[in-house]
Amino acid sequence: MKILVTGAGGMLGTDVCAEIARRGHDVIRTGRGERDGFVSLDITDTRKAVETIRREAPDTIIHCAAWTDVDGAERTPDPAYRVNALGSWNLAHAAGEAGTWLIGVSTDFVFDGKKITPYTEFDVTNPLGAYGASKQAGEVLIRETLPGRHMIVRTSWLFGVHGKNFPYTIRRLAEKLPEVPVVSDQVGSPTHTRDLARKLVDLAEDPLPGTYHIASAGECSWFEFAQAITAAGGFDTPVVPITAQMYADRFNSPTKRPAYSVMDHLALRMRGMDDLPHWRDALADFLALVPADR
Ligand SMILES: NC(=O)c1ccc[n+]([C@@H]2O[C@H](COP(=O)([O-])OP(=O)(O)OC[C@H]3O[C@@H](n4cnc5c(N)ncnc54)[C@H](OP(=O)(O)O)[C@@H]3O)[C@@H](O)[C@H]2O)c1
Repeated sequence: MKILVTGAGGMLGTDVCAEIARRGHDVIRTGRGERDGFVSLDITDTRKAVETIRREAPDTIIHCAAWTDVDGAERTPDPAYRVNALGSWNLAHAAGEAGTWLIGVSTDFVFDGKKITPYTEFDVTNPLGAYGASKQAGEVLIRETLPGRHMIVRTSWLFGVHGKNFPYTIRRLAEKLPEVPVVSDQVGSPTHTRDLARKLVDLAEDPLPGTYHIASAGECSWFEFAQAITAAGGFDTPVVPITAQMYADRFNSPTKRPAYSVMDHLALRMRGMDDLPHWRDALADFLALVPADR
């Protein structure tokens, strides 16, 4: 089959393209600007989106492109809405014209984090900030524009070899600071982009419309995740717990993040599909792939 990927040069997009190629499917990599091996597609350009999808005629689009600067979205929401809402709308419209399936990647930030048990796909969303609201708008526009031929996949706390991510940051800080302060009152499920990529391609191969929660099994705080990263790296540097409020004050972050964003993977279970590995196994797999100098 032929799968077109948006944001193909991003952290998740790179792993998704590799997985598609590994399974012997045709992959069309798209991204902003001109780049070797990429089809140029700025998803905010409605006409270009329609033309590109019509010309390339994929069976499925895996839509990984997004405005992911969470603090930036809070300070200036318009660009986040332009990419996450309008861009997703353009792709849904283009997919509708071309008879293509669309898998839109979304986020745990659509939830307010007030639950104390995992969120199912049927829980009501209530984003706390502009990034989550813009992603929620993208979800709504995809559902309304492409009924019956879309899948929304919500995921959380991504880390992958091809991006800026939490494990790299913690390793860097553990090398240069006497202690590493990390938030202990936010709980979620850290997810390796390679594991998610496999599941996204499974869905592309066997589509069934709806909303899916796909993240690692298990849960932890950022503090516990950081402890696992330093322990695996053999660092002696202590990780010290701080509150989300202390982090926001110290780093001047305007973003309110959900305190609890663990997701139940009910839709996968209903379809009889396996869960992702536990986050501790995912971290071990990831660290085995990381170059020594990262
Ligand atoms: N990272 C996380 O922890 C996390 C958690 C939950 C959900 N998600 C979701 O997972 C998906 C992938 O995230 P990621 O962390 O892999 O993101 P990423 O590394 O920031 O990659 C995003 C990609 O989108 C591209 N892009 C931005 N604006 C575009 C536009 N107007 N037209 C075309 N491409 C555009 C970027 O291209 P440039 O390089 O040109 O900017 C980049 O390649 C996103 O939907 C995100 O919302 C992420």
